[in-house]
Amino acid sequence: MVKKSNIEEQIEEAVKVILKGGVVAFPTETVYGLGADAFNPQAVAKIFIAKERPTFDPLIVHISKIEQLEAVVKELDPRLLLLAEKFWPGPLTIVTLKNEKVPDIVTSALPTVGVRMPSNPIALEFIERCNTPIAAPSANRFGRVSPTLPSHVRKELPNVATVIDGGGCEVGIESTVIALNKDGFSILREGAITKEELLKLLPLSKEESGKRPSSPGMLNSHYSPQKPLYIIEESTVEEIEKRIALLKRDGGRVAFISFTGIEPKGAERLLYLSKSGNLKEAALNLFKILHLLEDDDRIDFIVAERIFGGGISRAIMDRLKRASYRYTSKE
Ligand code: TXA
Ligand code: MG
Repeated sequence: MVKKSNIEEQIEEAVKVILKGGVVAFPTETVYGLGADAFNPQAVAKIFIAKERPTFDPLIVHISKIEQLEAVVKELDPRLLLLAEKFWPGPLTIVTLKNEKVPDIVTSALPTVGVRMPSNPIALEFIERCNTPIAAPSANRFGRVSPTLPSHVRKELPNVATVIDGGGCEVGIESTVIALNKDGFSILREGAITKEELLKLLPLSKEESGKRPSSPGMLNSHYSPQKPLYIIEESTVEEIEKRIALLKRDGGRVAFISFTGIEPKGAERLLYLSKSGNLKEAALNLFKILHLLEDDDRIDFIVAERIFGGGISRAIMDRLKRASYRYTSKE
């Protein structure tokens, strides 16, 4: 008999846990997810308990093949298939009317459901072998920094026994979440698939420019490290050094997160999202760096450089702003 690889064994074990109504942390290309059988409300409830997540925040349903869409959505909108063809498997979540079979606990009783097909091969095989769609949020406690490594999951959710170890995630920030409205799409959460790419297929909905689109989980404070994080609006060395000096005045030890390669004086630790301003690399490093600094006992404060521009830079700034919200003056 051919010996199964370690990852095969891990997947097999994880599938057993899911089929018994348990929860499993698994890698996706974006971040690690905490999954349960989307059609088993008791199993899904365990996700909310493990994460201490409020039930008003709906979960994304993960599928491994297009045929599973029919079990999850109300109708196969041709635009859904168009987007799926272009961006799946990959980091795009599409919110559309749900099939009545999807339990209310998954969607926070909304009439819609968010669906995505991840591209990570371990995730795909795991879902495929479960033979049921998998509801999964990111595998972190509610409001905290998302996990991109198995060690992050273990730190965040020590009571989750089954973690499939797929190493580091490729993208490093969560999927783009869009809603399909009658007249086009609106972006509920920025991510690796950019507005510019989506616009090549569909128009932006009027709702986008009017009121803020509703995604119950998009709270101002999120992704927060356990120590103060400040974003410097003016990316000049002078401004950054001034802020570091201020924080150091009473003995604070400061880490600086650099994007453009600026190297200010006074920081105890200097970390680069990307030395060359590469956005994909920056996205990949963001949560890793936040976890690293949160765990570093020699650091009291985190100062980050602002990132300008469109595309993925908007998704990175969205995460940084929410991560610093608790620590930002609201005048
Ligand atoms: O990349 C990702 O999307 C990761 C991996 C594990 O797939 N998952 C993830 O899930 O980030 P979570 O729960 O951390 O974020 C899901 C977001 C939340 O902001 C939630 O409010 C929104 O998607 N969402 C889910 N279903 C929705 C719906 N029916 N209507 C509006 N927003 C929805
Ligand atoms: Mg999350």
